[in-house]
Amino acid sequence: MTSEATSEPTSVTVLGLGAMGRALARTLRAAGHPTTVWNRTAGRAGELVEAGAVEADDPEKAIDASTITIVCVLDHAAVAEVLDAADAALAGATIVDLTSSTPEQARALAAQATERGARYLSGAIMVTTPMVGDVDAQFLYSGDRVVFDQHVATLRVLGGATEFVGEDPGAAAIFDLALLDVFFNGMAAFLHAAAVLRADGVSASDFVPYAQRVLDVLAPTFAELADNVDRGAHPGAEDNLDMELAALEHIVATSEARGIDSSVARVPRDLARAAVDRGHGRDNFSRVVDVLRTPS
Ligand SMILES: NC(=O)c1ccc[n+]([C@@H]2O[C@H](COP(=O)([O-])OP(=O)(O)OC[C@H]3O[C@@H](n4cnc5c(N)ncnc54)[C@H](OP(=O)(O)O)[C@@H]3O)[C@@H](O)[C@H]2O)c1
Repeated sequence: MTSEATSEPTSVTVLGLGAMGRALARTLRAAGHPTTVWNRTAGRAGELVEAGAVEADDPEKAIDASTITIVCVLDHAAVAEVLDAADAALAGATIVDLTSSTPEQARALAAQATERGARYLSGAIMVTTPMVGDVDAQFLYSGDRVVFDQHVATLRVLGGATEFVGEDPGAAAIFDLALLDVFFNGMAAFLHAAAVLRADGVSASDFVPYAQRVLDVLAPTFAELADNVDRGAHPGAEDNLDMELAALEHIVATSEARGIDSSVARVPRDLARAAVDRGHGRDNFSRVVDVLRTPS
């Protein structure tokens, strides 16, 4: 077995050859890592074997073949099933789980693996398959810090923006879900805006440069919101909820006047309205966090 202290690339096993597992294995193999692969359904390793990967008959043999094993299957239940099937190989193994999960599921899997003598690192993939291997591809890890430190060079092959976010095995999952929260709400807001624009004859593509300039405003706004949330102070001297609520009502009214589903626009309107109703109309929009924390 190799270690990252030597110049030899670390051997890696990838369990699960769905779209993401294949991208991970392909990228590791292209970077010169001895790569072993396994998938529940046979016949998905063809291009990887052609590229020099070795296909194992079962997950136990696959884990035994490499220094570290990456698991990337559908969900938490599938990981538990794969680990059960590989029980005899777990003692002494290093498992890096890149399957999406909730924090609770990640903690349960970490406990299951470590009880059987494995070292366990949980990870979250914040990119799509074509971006695997890019310098700015974000991969977040949590759990066993020793595993991360020992194998960070190999993990960076998958994404240059590789970071350790905490020793709690659930931390990578909570970051994952928080980032997806921002991502999906952003996409839904964009699509709602596009539907409203198209109803008035403006193409969604023409809107893109304008929306991108709003992203430039949003980036520093996140830092301001975060500071207010962490301090528990929501000063509204420059912009306040009374003023913002008026704009939010216009968005909902304009959407509904065009027969468009306004549910996306009603979420920030209703949150702002609730904060105003609680007497916070002169506060910054960040005051909405209190409505979210203590819904009425
Ligand atoms: N694709 C992406 O862009 C992307 C991005 C970020 C994160 N992810 C995460 O990466 C993980 C894998 O996603 P994917 O896109 O590769 O999914 P996928 O293409 O649907 O592949 C699912 C994989 O899970 C395996 N699997 C399902 N149930 C199993 C079980 N009970 N036991 C063993 N293997 C089982 C499948 O094996 P069979 O071939 O036998 O069905 C297949 O290899 C997910 O957690 C996903 O959230 C994906």
